[in-house]
Amino acid sequence: MADFPQKTLEWQLRSTPGGMAVRLPGRSGTLPPQGIDMRTLHRQSGLVSFDPGFGSTASCESALTYIDGERGELLHRGYPVEQLCQHKTYPEVAWLLLHGELPDAATLDRFNSDLSREAFLHEQVRNFFNGFRRDSHPMAMLCGTLAALSSFHGDQTADQRHRVTAEERDLRALQLIAKMPTLAAWAYRYGRGLPLIYPSAELPYAGNMLHMLFSMPGREWKPNPVLVRAFDRIMTLHIDHGQNVSTSTVRMAGSSGVNPFACVAAGVAALWGPAHGGANEAVLDMLDEIGTVERIPAYMARVRDRADPTRLMGFGHRIYRSKDPRAALMRAICHEVLDELGARNDPHLALAMELERIALEDDYFVNRKLYPNVDFYSGIILRAMGIPSSMFTVFFAVARTAGWVAQWKEMVESGAGIARPRQIYTGPARRDVPPSAPRTGVQS
Ligand code: ACO
Repeated sequence: MADFPQKTLEWQLRSTPGGMAVRLPGRSGTLPPQGIDMRTLHRQSGLVSFDPGFGSTASCESALTYIDGERGELLHRGYPVEQLCQHKTYPEVAWLLLHGELPDAATLDRFNSDLSREAFLHEQVRNFFNGFRRDSHPMAMLCGTLAALSSFHGDQTADQRHRVTAEERDLRALQLIAKMPTLAAWAYRYGRGLPLIYPSAELPYAGNMLHMLFSMPGREWKPNPVLVRAFDRIMTLHIDHGQNVSTSTVRMAGSSGVNPFACVAAGVAALWGPAHGGANEAVLDMLDEIGTVERIPAYMARVRDRADPTRLMGFGHRIYRSKDPRAALMRAICHEVLDELGARNDPHLALAMELERIALEDDYFVNRKLYPNVDFYSGIILRAMGIPSSMFTVFFAVARTAGWVAQWKEMVESGAGIARPRQIYTGPARRDVPPSAPRTGVQS
């Protein structure tokens, strides 16, 4: 395995006259899987690799996050997510992703105070919210206002890959992480017709998010430390996850050199779908639909029926095939939060636990290696905290922002060129436009 990079894959393409030899070098990182460097395949042979959904394709090299799907392991810069979640705060892990090492105490203080300073939005941004219907989905507001922020921060036309300094990139990364909670909270408050709350310099990142959501002007609001810590850990669990669809979207948009606020807005759009970030909202819809433990078997029969599109939401993952390590942490946080709120008897929790138990013993799920994913319990926690389900994906987006900007920065600093996949064309071959039939209408 160690000598893999030196090895070259060579094969003879027998279908071509005389057989064409193609030589492709191996490529490996610090941990498996190894790769085959396909970049010269087309040049050498005129062929392309076909891999829709990218199941066998590494779109980049990255030193940020490592996932071992078979073992159910998730590392950020080498540190297991379990340890980061237990011992570190979200801003520390964000710094780790951005800069490669955990911050020392002085660096962390400075980073926290920079986050606090940058959490404010330009006053004009309030006007963007006013343009939305009050019943707009908060993800629509987040996506729109985030893209609009590109007109406030940084040169809107400068190619971020060549004409922007490393300091400026760091500032944009900081601004994005700092401003997302404010945008998210304002999307929520605007939808409810509540006064928009400014960030507080007194509170840590997660506490500030809750403050902007739940406090009211003129009324004292004290953060509950258990809920703040739970929220911080939920965000850490969502901070980055390799080249998923939203992260790949951020990298792909960024490869054209566009402003990072626009890249992250593209990532937010990709995250919105129920197969990705929208899943925790879909889990609660599913629990509502099932209603009671007695109705689980009927629901499971629909899930097992291949003619029925119903899926068990919060189950399954493209990469994890034994467990999603974030799911167990999320289950533990769920119990802590419900205990703190005196909501142990939450009917959703009982239903979710029974669904999980049944699914884990069911051949359909066992054979397909389907396990609870990070979204299975997160919705229950957020709803118990008083957060409406339409906001769940918004929080996911806030949490994932540090990952997105770290990935964006890594992509830009790697000198990657513009992303441009090829395709296998399946339309008609070249043909001529038929002559037009003579027109019968009278024209004046
Ligand atoms: N419920 C029932 N069956 C499922 C589920 C599920 N949640 N997930 C996969 N399957 C079945 C498929 O029907 C398929 O069965 P078949 O072989 O009989 O056709 C088989 O398992 C493989 O499924 P794929 O869709 O090919 O698996 P893929 O890796 O592409 O999908 C995905 C991964 C999209 C996450 C899928 O498991 C799913 O839809 N889960 C529910 C939605 C969800 O929870 N998404 C959150 C993912 S985590 C995140 O984004 C943070």
